[in-house]
Amino acid sequence: MKITKTLLAASLISAVTPASAGEVEVLHWWTAGGEANAISVLKDMLEQQGYSWIDFGVEGGGGESAMRVLRTRAVSGNPPSAANIKGPDIQEWARLGFLTNLNSVANPEHWDDVIPKMITNVMKYDNHYVAVPVNVHRVNWLWANSEVFAKAGAKIPTSMDEFFTAADKIKAIGLIPLAHGSQPWQNATLFEVIALDVLGAKDYIKAFVDLDMDTLGGEKMIEVFTQFKRVRSYVDNNSPGRDWMTATSMVIKGEAGMQIMGDWAKGEFSAAGKVPGKDYVCAPAFGTAGKFTYNVDSFAFFDLQDEENFKAQQALASTILDPKFQEVFNLNKGSIPVRLDMDMSHFDQCALDSMREFKSSAKTGDLVPSMAHGMSTTSYVQSAMFDVITNFFNNPNETPKEAVQRLTKVVKSSM
Ligand code: BGC
Repeated sequence: MKITKTLLAASLISAVTPASAGEVEVLHWWTAGGEANAISVLKDMLEQQGYSWIDFGVEGGGGESAMRVLRTRAVSGNPPSAANIKGPDIQEWARLGFLTNLNSVANPEHWDDVIPKMITNVMKYDNHYVAVPVNVHRVNWLWANSEVFAKAGAKIPTSMDEFFTAADKIKAIGLIPLAHGSQPWQNATLFEVIALDVLGAKDYIKAFVDLDMDTLGGEKMIEVFTQFKRVRSYVDNNSPGRDWMTATSMVIKGEAGMQIMGDWAKGEFSAAGKVPGKDYVCAPAFGTAGKFTYNVDSFAFFDLQDEENFKAQQALASTILDPKFQEVFNLNKGSIPVRLDMDMSHFDQCALDSMREFKSSAKTGDLVPSMAHGMSTTSYVQSAMFDVITNFFNNPNETPKEAVQRLTKVVKSSM
């Protein structure tokens, strides 16, 4: 079920269409059900203002393929208008001179006043905006099928121990405890959730933001790998290569009990007409209640020569932060709006919980950037971490201690 776009009707810019309005080409990887519903809201709003939309969707969860394609296009001198680039990589693209200055939109629209500073800092290079944030995803979620839990007589886990108890009960009724796709970014998503629980927010930041070698190579990190291996044993043998949305649909259909995934998974539950609190449960992943791993999707804007296309880019940037767009997009995407001044009355319990914990975790020091989703390091360091984590996931003979030694070694060499 696609969340209605009629909410937009009132605000749809009675725009006077310029004679030869420009076009925007937008690179993203939002091809799953909920994601596609979400991005189509942007396309519709742009087209309603008279601009042309060229869709540049590249399949592949987590966006690694999309980033590869983007690099090729940009290096050959033909970048799109905007691309979903996140976190520290935005600075990297700006430093290389690829991005444009969006202050002509940001200043009159007062972006500084409506977006948290922690996020605007990432969107700016040299004091000007080069990117626009779309949403805030929370990564440390557990998604559970209510009926499976009832059948298994299991309780939604709040700690790692409770997770193992619930997983055993689900296994005992012949179902898959944990739906997972063994792709590097999904393995890293699961890994960082376990890391947040075992390390706590402070050491998580030391490890994945500061790249502190003592923390990356320490005893607690060995424990993270140990628990990772244990959680992995509740994943079925068909997980290699499985897409995240296929794993989500296993939970939706009741073939599996749980999935650990960011709240883009909720977009799939919504697209399938499922209701939180009834058909499924969203809960902070084991041991991480009160903590919040954030993943902010954002579009970086490339420097284009064509004047009409620059105008179209400005319209795109402005539309992304339009409160009406923020509402309908995020209802479909599963995330929460990036504007803090939004009316949240149309959002469900999962989104309200997310918004509450986003704000409270910022005060307690429990708000941490996602390593798996490009928020904490550059993509070079991230991909080195992905290699170690995935190798460990696939290799039953590697010990947690060996994995930790490899982790410090590859991170050092990619810094
Ligand atoms: C992105 C989400 C996307 C997910 C699955 C994440 O890295 O931030 O927007 O839905 O990957 O592709």
